[in-house]
Amino acid sequence: MWAIYSCFLCLEKPHKPHHGGGLIFNPEFKHDIEGWTLFGHGAMKEGRSQDGNRTAEGKLIRGGMAIAKHGCWSLLKGGMVARFSGPVEILFECKNTKVDTWVDNVSLQQFTHEEWRSHQQKSLNKVRKTDMRFNVTCNNNTPLKGANVTIKQITSSFPFGCGINHHILTSEAYQNWFASRFKFATFTNEMKWYSTERAEDKENYTISDSMLRFAKENGIAVRGHNIFWDNPKQQPSWVKSLSRRALQKAAAKRINSVVKRYSGKLIAWDVMNENLHFRFYEEKLGENASAEYYAEAYQLDPRTRMFMNEYNTIENTRDVNATAVNYVKKLEQILSYPGNKGMLAGIGVQGHFGPGHPNLVYMRSALDILGSTGLPIWLTEVDVERGPNQELFFEEILREGYSHPAVEGIIIFAGPEAAGFNVTTLAATDFKNTPAGDVVDKLMQNWKTGTKEITTDTKGFAEVSLFHGDYNVIVTVPKTNDTTTVGFTVTGDNKGAGPEVFDIHMASC
Ligand SMILES: *[C@@H]1O[C@H](CO)[C@@H](O)[C@H](O)[C@H]1NC(C)=O
Ligand SMILES: *[C@@H]1O[C@H](CO)[C@@H](O)[C@H](O)[C@H]1NC(C)=O
Ligand SMILES: *[C@@H]1O[C@H](CO)[C@@H](O)[C@H](O)[C@H]1NC(C)=O
Ligand SMILES: *[C@@H]1O[C@H](CO)[C@@H](O)[C@H](O)[C@H]1NC(C)=O
Ligand SMILES: *[C@@H]1O[C@H](CO)[C@@H](O)[C@H](O)[C@H]1NC(C)=O
Ligand SMILES: *[C@@H]1O[C@H](CO)[C@@H](O)[C@H](O)[C@H]1NC(C)=O
Ligand SMILES: *[C@@H]1O[C@H](CO)[C@@H](O)[C@H](O)[C@H]1NC(C)=O
Ligand SMILES: *[C@@H]1O[C@H](CO)[C@@H](O)[C@H](O)[C@H]1NC(C)=O
Ligand SMILES: *[C@@H]1O[C@H](CO)[C@@H](O)[C@H](O)[C@H]1NC(C)=O
Repeated sequence: MWAIYSCFLCLEKPHKPHHGGGLIFNPEFKHDIEGWTLFGHGAMKEGRSQDGNRTAEGKLIRGGMAIAKHGCWSLLKGGMVARFSGPVEILFECKNTKVDTWVDNVSLQQFTHEEWRSHQQKSLNKVRKTDMRFNVTCNNNTPLKGANVTIKQITSSFPFGCGINHHILTSEAYQNWFASRFKFATFTNEMKWYSTERAEDKENYTISDSMLRFAKENGIAVRGHNIFWDNPKQQPSWVKSLSRRALQKAAAKRINSVVKRYSGKLIAWDVMNENLHFRFYEEKLGENASAEYYAEAYQLDPRTRMFMNEYNTIENTRDVNATAVNYVKKLEQILSYPGNKGMLAGIGVQGHFGPGHPNLVYMRSALDILGSTGLPIWLTEVDVERGPNQELFFEEILREGYSHPAVEGIIIFAGPEAAGFNVTTLAATDFKNTPAGDVVDKLMQNWKTGTKEITTDTKGFAEVSLFHGDYNVIVTVPKTNDTTTVGFTVTGDNKGAGPEVFDIHMASC
């Protein structure tokens, strides 16, 4: 699995330029460096190119990042959305000026909104749907021609869920609102250390337990969020000032307590939240602190997937800490730690978007890089700040995530106003949908197969492309109107190797 990634990052020869170079003049440098110019080190040393503007009238948009290795070619992949027209320069910036950095086979390709959408749809059809063939037979296994096949999707197997908070325990309206929509959830704060052990040695899981009971009663699967948080400001107040020794002891107790309590009851753990931005545990306990807690969590709950969980990996091109390549580097460190051999690992990207246009191209390139590890990616906390096109941007982000082949789940951190969800509010105080709430309901509808009626051909076959999930199918014999109802599941396990065949044998016809 890791070999794929290093090969991806360290090639003997670079890939051909994608799209033949697209808009780039002289992408393969066949004509020396015609069209390319060199910027002196002076400007870079002044540090102006880091995040701000390169020239008075120009603006630097960070499009991507790669960690180059010696002696081979690395793929630098990125993207940007240009909301302007005019000449642009592509700037390759190198942190280490003591080494030569070579660039070859550059490609810049333009996509219209429609092209982007159509590519998304193509990918969605491939990764979320499967071609099914119903093979209807009757007496002596003879094909039944002209039978009506009515297909109804019962549940969707793609995990699209939502954050919940403690208000769910006291508001029946919130319970109904949530349970009628979602089968996957994350508690926004209630399982965190600062919630379950407010004062030292005074553990109290009352709220978290009750929320988990609500989830269980309603068939809702829950992600464990989180065991630790690397942000020094987000520790229980009594933890902040502990000595190294005392912290070690308290943290050992914490991980034992929460993971044992919920072992086998959750679908994921965010083990060390935000360890690309913060280093509370690394600073106090050493460089391997995160890796050690993953190993510990894995021992206590071996069948549950252990996630990293970060912000700004897909949503912000300027924050260098959590870029996809840095994410993979940290993940590699954790996974190569001896105790983590065999651990199920997952990639959590939070997806807290600002109020402006999301950069979907960058988002896709980040997901591509993360996806090259072969590990499942979840969007874990998606929301979009309020702004003029909030619901539109929210929809674009969710569509991009849903159609990406490496994304295996999406949780939005949104909800009703009554429960305090004030970044992306889905329902007003009367629990009527906001425009963002309409987007969620519409997408959940779009990502399911509506009722389909098809008829078998002379071979007794009826074919249709279906979203993954559980279904009922009703087959009606044309002559007698006798019906048979059977349940089936579309898994997508055959990965597009021809249609998945489902045999239905009619007792009489
Ligand atoms: C760049 O891609 C071309 C194919 O388009 C390939 O022939 C060439 O070898 C590549 N460049 C290098 C340095 O390998
Ligand atoms: C960068 O450009 C913007 C808009 O063109 C301008 O407002 C800002 O002051 C510039 N910043 C610097 C550091 O030059
Ligand atoms: C259809 O179902 C019948 C009866 O089970 C079986 O004999 C036949 O091989 C099936 N056809 C295909 C194409 O799977
Ligand atoms: C079969 O399906 C067609 C089209 O959906 C419908 O008009 C017809 O009434 C159905 N026949 C039976 C026997 O259900
Ligand atoms: C635990 O928390 C619950 C809910 O906040 C509270 O009602 C209860 O009194 C707490 N128990 C203790 C022993 O503090
Ligand atoms: C990036 O990480 C470093 C080291 O942990 C930290 O000092 C810095 O504040 C982080 N930057 C951001 C934008 O979070
Ligand atoms: C961290 O763990 C690695 C093994 O993954 C080990 O080689 C290294 O020495 C450890 N570092 C420290 C500071 O303990
Ligand atoms: C949103 O809620 C948070 C937490 O309850 C609060 O701190 C913040 O001020 C609220 N923001 C707005 C714009 O109401
Ligand atoms: C079967 O159902 C269709 C549509 O509901 C109806 O038109 C037809 O008369 C029925 N045939 C028999 C044999 O009952």
